[in-house]
Amino acid sequence: MPDTWEALERECQNCRACPLGGGRQHLVFGDGCRTAEILLIGEGPGQREDEQGLPFVGPAGKLLDDMMELIGLDRSKVYIANIVKCRPPRNRDPMNTEQAACLPWLRRQTALLRPKMIVCLGRIAAQVVIKPDFRITKEHGQWTQRAGVWMTAIYHPSALLRDVYKRPETFVDLKAIQAKAREICTHTELVTP
Ligand code: SF4
Ligand code: URA
Repeated sequence: MPDTWEALERECQNCRACPLGGGRQHLVFGDGCRTAEILLIGEGPGQREDEQGLPFVGPAGKLLDDMMELIGLDRSKVYIANIVKCRPPRNRDPMNTEQAACLPWLRRQTALLRPKMIVCLGRIAAQVVIKPDFRITKEHGQWTQRAGVWMTAIYHPSALLRDVYKRPETFVDLKAIQAKAREICTHTELVTP
């Protein structure tokens, strides 16, 4: 039986496949449009996300919303998920074992969505999704195509909050994402600004 979004989310909500499950207030499954052509992938929930059960609702999320708005996108036009669905303690990086335990959920989400484009937010997502030795400082904004899906990575919005000097490069990357979306996405609402 192929997954449905509802069944997948219900199953995921009960997950205890790694120790992060023991510390969560809320599991953060994902948010946005379940027929979107663009998938954004972050790292894992922070405090606000753990409290609310939604991805990117804290300060980094506000910046992410602003970044999307710059290129005519919002949560009705993309789907947003994370590498790990439960918050790592004190926002430490998710461990490799935790990432591996959680990855099947993201794979099943990706199989349901069948995105045309995947945008990794930050190093961790890029290393899981694009390649293990991905160097975010050198390789952000570069594109690769795999199994018909275009993939790129940009700096994580949290990194852009800490280091405003990374923002001009990210603006260039965002404009390239917009151009690629205009080229390959068929949902007409993308072709605005
Ligand atoms: Fe399951 Fe992922 Fe949560 Fe670990 S982080 S308990 S694998 S949903
Ligand atoms: N940072 C992430 O990587 N994901 C979230 O959902 C929130 C902050």
